[in-house]
Amino acid sequence: MNQLKHTTFLICFLTGIISWSQNYEAKVDSLMKLMTLQEKIGQTVMYSGSWDQTGPIVGTDNGRYIREGNLGAMLNAFTVKGTRDLQKIAIEESRLGIPLLFGYDVIHGHRTIFPINLGMSCSWDLNMVEESSRIAAEEASAEGLHWTFAPMVDISREPRWGRISEGAGEDVYLGSQIAKAYVKGFQGDDLSQPNTILACAKHYVAYGAAQAGRDYHTVNMGEGELRNVYLPPFKATVDAGVETFMSAFNELNGVPTSGNKFTLRDILRDEWNFKGFVVSDYTSINELVPHGFAKDSIDAARIGMNAGVDMDMVGKLYHHFLKDLVEEGQVPERYVDDACRRILLAKYKLGLFEDPYRYINEERENTTKYKPEFLAKAREIAAASSVLLQNNREALPLSKSTNKIAFIGPLVKDEYDILGNWAAKGDRQGKAVSVFEGISEYLKSNQILYAKGCDILKDDESGFAEAISVSKQAEEIVLVMGEGHHMSGEAASRTNLKIPGLQPKLIKKIREANPNKKITLVIMNGRPLNLSEEVGLVDAILEVWFPGTMGGAATADLLFGEVNPSGKLTVTFPRNVGQVPIYYNMKNTGRPIPETNPKEDYKSNYIDVPNSPLFSFGYGLSYTQFTYSNLTLSSKTLDANGTLEASVTITNSGNMDGHEIVQLYIHDKVGSVTRPVKELKGFEKIFLKKGESKKVSFSISIEDLKFYNSDMIFGVEPGEFEIAIAPNSEFKFNTSFYLE
Ligand code: BGC
Repeated sequence: MNQLKHTTFLICFLTGIISWSQNYEAKVDSLMKLMTLQEKIGQTVMYSGSWDQTGPIVGTDNGRYIREGNLGAMLNAFTVKGTRDLQKIAIEESRLGIPLLFGYDVIHGHRTIFPINLGMSCSWDLNMVEESSRIAAEEASAEGLHWTFAPMVDISREPRWGRISEGAGEDVYLGSQIAKAYVKGFQGDDLSQPNTILACAKHYVAYGAAQAGRDYHTVNMGEGELRNVYLPPFKATVDAGVETFMSAFNELNGVPTSGNKFTLRDILRDEWNFKGFVVSDYTSINELVPHGFAKDSIDAARIGMNAGVDMDMVGKLYHHFLKDLVEEGQVPERYVDDACRRILLAKYKLGLFEDPYRYINEERENTTKYKPEFLAKAREIAAASSVLLQNNREALPLSKSTNKIAFIGPLVKDEYDILGNWAAKGDRQGKAVSVFEGISEYLKSNQILYAKGCDILKDDESGFAEAISVSKQAEEIVLVMGEGHHMSGEAASRTNLKIPGLQPKLIKKIREANPNKKITLVIMNGRPLNLSEEVGLVDAILEVWFPGTMGGAATADLLFGEVNPSGKLTVTFPRNVGQVPIYYNMKNTGRPIPETNPKEDYKSNYIDVPNSPLFSFGYGLSYTQFTYSNLTLSSKTLDANGTLEASVTITNSGNMDGHEIVQLYIHDKVGSVTRPVKELKGFEKIFLKKGESKKVSFSISIEDLKFYNSDMIFGVEPGEFEIAIAPNSEFKFNTSFYLE
């Protein structure tokens, strides 16, 4: 037995080396000829190590399972030492010596933490997104990891949903571009390089549309909305070559997505021709039982594999039940073969058959994390991801020569929450730069006054008096407040979108005590908040999200004008929770509010607040001003094979150099199914020196105008299309073209 085991491994290993130029498929086929059914099933099984916990604890005996060939991949197991110990068991003690795959949630950085993904999307900077995931891949792979469960490409229009923080916001076009950039960064051009990792598009699909924003909740939506809004970012990742997909927790129109043949086989495999493998979410196949979709665990295993889930994350179901199900004819053996083949193929692509220890290298582990250039990039990205929401009386930028500035709030000195949720192995102590440390680069200690004031959530006003007294001693006031990092992310839905705890009360008290002073609110949060009261109480609002390891330094760069804010919202901020869902690309309804008489009765409005949001999609201020002029179309008509150029001149008419994110919107006026009032169809981030002008052009073809009609045919319909190039989504169209 022992002899056979080693000989077989040797054969595999040598065939690997000798015929390295042959295609991987042939190698996988020859390996699979040596495998028993149970060993093939073993490749479809993933268990968790104890390095981290990302779901309910499920006890396992990993060493034994690896030895038996019953385990193909692990999550929450990393570090060179840890992965080497486990890989050694797989290589030296299992019959065929097939290497393990190590996966982990590297979501917005691994050690060097970048802003939360929603924040990063507000940079609208695809290069930065790609660079962040490239650095994350460098650091993660140096700790033995081969695979990240990212990017999360769920569109979400639901600020109550805590996981809105993990995505790129509400827009299909921008979300799809960002999705591709993440995949490119993680996977690079050559997966066999030891610094590239597999990406995973998750959570397939429509998880972001959970009813009432409650995590894991039901989703009902028509196929048109599914195809026009929720599927495109996933398709974009397939086009970008993503290697893996994760099926989600939610049901979709009565069929849980981890047992959904329509989305997993018909769309993903047959329509999109996806060749990689699909992993379930954490025990999501088991959850087919409480969903009321499978009668027991065995039934769930049957449904999961038949629907097209190739790997069972932590659930134990494939491990224990799949063999019997195949032998009884309830699961076709070819499904198991296909799943195993896809997983082995990924291992080949990573180069693990050539060298199973390729990602395991002490020197790389010791020298790769927190490299100075990674930290510098994190600082740059955090600044680019922040959004200046308000700047009355030019409260910002602050001046370095102000006598005394008061910094008040529970997040001023924070090094913990600043990393945000899903911060992988980012050290929450000792590495992150707090806002307090950041501003200390700009001010002398005698210029800084500080008071915590209150906690994020605790009901304790005992710090108010000190905070108010400190505020009175200063010429200007900066409040650093927001949510705790655990208030967004998985299982962190909220029904109240206000800044939590006593913080809003403290803001009021500070304003009362300082009626004329300039007050800036720096806000850290994982979702759009209801800032309706605060906009009237403070002068400036700087949204920094959870900005990551270098967040405090980046925030200081913005506060003092070393960097000019350029981020723009990728998600709408409502006036209150009752407006949710609210997003820029809504439908018009049959009774839109008339421009000429906004108060007219029997229109689609509220009687207590306007329909408009507090801050709209695409919105964000700068310390300079940009003016848009001279919108020109190369033609008034577009034909099916041609293109049309739309251009505009942007001028930096203010007093500081800066970046502007120029946005192209189109409105298809009449459709066989109604079309949104406007849709983002392009954008460009430009840099303009003060006084400088630049012409920005977009090329439009019929590809930009296609949508799924009621027969689920993707195409264009002739007619009139309004078009605008604008600084945000809050504008009125005044020109159009015709598609003939
Ligand atoms: C989450 C996934 C994550 C997985 C593994 C689940 O609870 O929904 O996003 O990748 O755990 O940690």
